[in-house]
Amino acid sequence: MKTIGVLTSGGDAPGMNAAVRAVVRTGCESGMRVMGIRRGYSGLIHGDMYEMNLRSVSDIIHRGGTMLYSARCPEFQTESGMQKAIDVCHEVGLEGIVVIGGDGSFRGARDLSMRGIPCVGVPGTIDNDIACCDYTIGYDTAMNTIMDMVDRIRDTTESHDRCSVVEVMGRKAGYLALNAGLAIGATAILIPEVEYDIERDVIERMRRTQKTGKQHFVIIVAEGIGGVDALAKRIQETTGVESRATILGHVQRGGSPSARDRVLASQMGNKAVHLLLNGVGNRVVATKGDQIVDYDIFDALNMKNQIDLDLYRIAHEISI
Ligand code: ADP
Ligand code: F6P
Repeated sequence: MKTIGVLTSGGDAPGMNAAVRAVVRTGCESGMRVMGIRRGYSGLIHGDMYEMNLRSVSDIIHRGGTMLYSARCPEFQTESGMQKAIDVCHEVGLEGIVVIGGDGSFRGARDLSMRGIPCVGVPGTIDNDIACCDYTIGYDTAMNTIMDMVDRIRDTTESHDRCSVVEVMGRKAGYLALNAGLAIGATAILIPEVEYDIERDVIERMRRTQKTGKQHFVIIVAEGIGGVDALAKRIQETTGVESRATILGHVQRGGSPSARDRVLASQMGNKAVHLLLNGVGNRVVATKGDQIVDYDIFDALNMKNQIDLDLYRIAHEISI
């Protein structure tokens, strides 16, 4: 391949810049022309791209967000949008594309690959909801941001003998809530993957810990469950503990990427370009334990997300 493109798509994630850097540097060092496509599939459809060089990606490894910008592009999911994208690829001479994003973006990469534009997906999402991949780019940073924010919330919660009910991101997945909940020692963690009962899993747990002298509480709720205002109200009414709800929101998506995310992004971006260099497309790069591996996109998209139920058990066994 002589010319490849790189784009970031869907919700941004800390470490996307480090991945773009790895793609551009690996591509340029291998003698390829690398086009940076702005705003995901939207930029592809509209031909909004520019040729990048080694220096285009200087000083971005430590920055959150994405220098290529990101977007959600419903037009790309229409037949005419897809055709426009393919026409642009032929006009520019794009022979392969590295797509950095989540599973929605990979569906787009699969469709492009099926139409003759080989794509390699690089998992970039704070949600960690890519079934084939143990750790996605941005997840570690987001977990640490949540931990930092909730530690602060905990300070004031403790001062006032309150209960804080905190909603964390993750769309339909509970990975962020479960891991961050364990890391901050939440009294209860509610995630969509595990059936729950508010009376049994929140109110009763609080009452039991109250009997052992606990006077402040943090409850972590995954975005996929929501309803934190109503839950805080119910807790206050039933336990008498003054309660507040906090939705952490987009603070979780920003910030300088952690070392883990920078290293992961560098490995994955590099691997993606090597796949394209070997003429291999329709793949997703992933982590399996401490290995960087790759899967067929169809197979990857058919895998089912699994939450670590043992982590859930541990969290509830020790946060008492
Ligand atoms: P993420 O990649 O983080 O999961 P989205 O689900 O919003 O984010 O998807 C990002 C973009 O990928 C969408 O705006 C759309 O352009 C494209 N996309 C999403 N789902 C599909 C699909 N089923 N087929 C083709 N393209 C898709
Ligand atoms: O996929 C990443 C994510 O931050 C989810 O956790 C969240 O549900 C969603 O994106 C929010 O999207 P938006 O930025 O469009 O509100």
